[in-house]
Amino acid sequence: MTGTMRAWRVTTLGEPSEALQLDEIETPQPGPGEVLIRTRAVSANFPDVLLCRGLYQVRPELPFSPGIELVGDVVALGDGVEGMSVGDRVIGSKIGVLAELAVLPASDVWPAPPALTDAEASGLTVAYQTAWFALHRRAELKPGEWLLVHAAAGGVGLAAVQLGDAAGARVIAVVGSEAKAAVARAAGAEVVLVRGETDIAAAVKTATGGHGADVVFDPVGGDAFMASTKCIAFEGRIVVVGFAGGEIQSLPAGHVLVKNYSVLGLHWGMYPGIRPDLVDAARADLARLAEEGAIAPVVDRVVPFDSAPEALTALAGGATVGRVVIEVAA
Ligand SMILES: NC(=O)c1ccc[n+]([C@@H]2O[C@H](COP(=O)([O-])OP(=O)(O)OC[C@H]3O[C@@H](n4cnc5c(N)ncnc54)[C@H](OP(=O)(O)O)[C@@H]3O)[C@@H](O)[C@H]2O)c1
Repeated sequence: MTGTMRAWRVTTLGEPSEALQLDEIETPQPGPGEVLIRTRAVSANFPDVLLCRGLYQVRPELPFSPGIELVGDVVALGDGVEGMSVGDRVIGSKIGVLAELAVLPASDVWPAPPALTDAEASGLTVAYQTAWFALHRRAELKPGEWLLVHAAAGGVGLAAVQLGDAAGARVIAVVGSEAKAAVARAAGAEVVLVRGETDIAAAVKTATGGHGADVVFDPVGGDAFMASTKCIAFEGRIVVVGFAGGEIQSLPAGHVLVKNYSVLGLHWGMYPGIRPDLVDAARADLARLAEEGAIAPVVDRVVPFDSAPEALTALAGGATVGRVVIEVAA
């Protein structure tokens, strides 16, 4: 397929409203092992904001397109691609998909579960695989355990609440406002705490009858992490997922020893290259759970392609619930 397409590109680093420009550029061509996808929708993620600011762990050369996950239709296959056909509705993840068409390695693309709408399916890859690897691979969450989720109404947080509930854990959610509490409850949280209104560590101790949280899912860092260390159970596991609060905390190693808990890092982006077998297992489990109705990405709002910077600005403000979705083609 030749011709041109529209793509949002970061031309100068900064806040999304200043950094992004809508450009008409040449349609990319799939090389060997790659597929060309016509984008239906892109789910906005916090890393998109960090990419615009030049603060993400990956810093592509300017100009580049942000967007790290999509749902769309396969329109062309590169040499050697098997198990996929033109016309398949797929989801996938790679930096640069905030465009009408995108080329992805076939290994980063998988079938979109039919049970999910386009807006929902666009958010199934990054948040849900991050939460799946954090809870099941790193923390080895067991049924009946207490799971504490920070930023529980955010994208990865809601995924962790839904997956924790589906795994039979008892979920305690921390959210930033009363307005977000109902969303966390609907996703499966048994207890919901509002950050700033409650002493989180004390409330977790009370809710668990003094036991504490067996597993903590922490995409916030800073004070949230420190609160977790005060209410972590014996042999508990804190998974460090991100630093949405803006502060990268230091590890109190002596405290880790004395209280006999573990602090685990989770960098989901490393798994496709190093353990593709586990990515296959995560995809199969997530597809099954989506088809059973046990999980579904929560969509805050859907905005048109032309309004993509507004979607990222809303996300950067921290007031969104679940995913803001950018509709590229209806
Ligand atoms: N480790 C990995 O592999 C991996 C993968 C994907 C994402 N992440 C990280 O996970 C984090 C969350 O990503 P996301 O896409 O879920 O973002 P999101 O939907 O924007 O959720 C982040 C939430 O953090 C809370 N928050 C607390 N303090 C904040 C502050 N100072 N500014 C903004 N938000 C604040 C907000 O919820 P409340 O107001 O309710 O507290 C906000 O909704 C990010 O740091 C991201 O980089 C890590």
